[in-house]
Amino acid sequence: MTTAPPAFPQARVCPHLPPPAYAELRQGPALRRVTTYAGQLAWLVTRYDQARTLLKDPRLSSDRRRPGFPVISVQVELLTERKRQALIGMDPPEHDIQRRMFLPDFTLKKVRERRADIERIVHESLDDMLAQGPPADLYRDFALPVPFRVICRLLGAPWEDRDFFQDAIRRLVRTFSTEEGRQAGAELLAYFEHLVTEYKKTPDGAGLIGRLAGTGRISDDDLALAAMSLLIAGHETTAAMISLGAVTLMENPDQLAAIRADPEAIVPAVEELLRYQSIADSANIRVATADIEIDGVVIKAGEGVLVPASLANRDAEVFENPDVFDAGRDAGGHIAFGYGRHQCLGQNLARLELQIALTALWQRIPTLRMTVPAEELAPRPPGAIQGIDALPVTW
Ligand code: HEM
Repeated sequence: MTTAPPAFPQARVCPHLPPPAYAELRQGPALRRVTTYAGQLAWLVTRYDQARTLLKDPRLSSDRRRPGFPVISVQVELLTERKRQALIGMDPPEHDIQRRMFLPDFTLKKVRERRADIERIVHESLDDMLAQGPPADLYRDFALPVPFRVICRLLGAPWEDRDFFQDAIRRLVRTFSTEEGRQAGAELLAYFEHLVTEYKKTPDGAGLIGRLAGTGRISDDDLALAAMSLLIAGHETTAAMISLGAVTLMENPDQLAAIRADPEAIVPAVEELLRYQSIADSANIRVATADIEIDGVVIKAGEGVLVPASLANRDAEVFENPDVFDAGRDAGGHIAFGYGRHQCLGQNLARLELQIALTALWQRIPTLRMTVPAEELAPRPPGAIQGIDALPVTW
């Protein structure tokens, strides 16, 4: 009797660590079969070199509509039904054209110009939290509002509508019901379609939406979908990293003390946090458009390929003692932002936000501590951006 390949993704037990079963998967072959959420067989890539080779391979498609695309969650299932795809689900040439259109807002130079604005947002959020506490919920009061305000400003999405955004996004990204997710996605898209129409009436409108609306470079429908996707991608991930980053630093007080003593130390520390936590296991999913031979196996055209950062970023041949959090190591080669053509568009922004937020947090609140043990924080379900939805703290 043959046993079914293991399920992928699996649930985290502790939100800031990969599922325990992944340690075993890393000991096996570089490519192995797994069973997706939807019951398909797909290839799981467990090693760093093979992960990078495949993420560079043009024979792998990101188009969620292609038959065989690995469905690892309700959210991916909803994307397979969509007529239009956002950047992350596009293949060339459309992908490259659209990416070039958005890039000017995300270059290192442009992002650095936002430093003062991000610092102001971080300190205002801390002012609010300090005025109301202790105690506080560090996720609700700090980790979430900071990237949310930053991405709203970058896009030109009105901050007054934040309650609607947050409610609809929660219903879309946290649901287990295709019906609820479909409804929330439709509400968000309709909102942004309306916003694009409004922006077309006011030339030189704010942010990325204002810059592109009505220029004829991108259709209104594609701009609305892009704005919605950027709003979600631009804060879900960073909010998760700020909160889980804070957890890992509080769990490692000696390393936190060393980071606080040296203002430069936050830069490598953020890279190590990105590697160690690898929150975006639901990204880096592909389907083969042709047979691909790698490491003695043939990935057949139409088969799904999963390249989770949480496995590649813990490859012992690349990162010594990969299960150890070492804020001083050179973790720069990690693939927490993906690799190749779809490598994260917002990585410069995310890095700067994390560096500023995790520095200011202890400058302003040196005695910050969790009021529950890290093991009691509830992880998110597999297939979601990994993170926490509440982080009780005091000072
Ligand atoms: C792509 C992770 C922050 C926008 C990706 C990918 C990963 C990732 C792994 C690659 C997906 C793939 O290849 O299939 C992260 C993490 C973040 C973060 C860990 C925070 C710590 C952001 C921010 C933005 C953003 C702040 C800003 C808008 C995007 C976009 C793509 C992307 C648009 C698609 C790029 C393309 O397909 O060309 N991200 N991301 N991300 N990310 Fe991020």
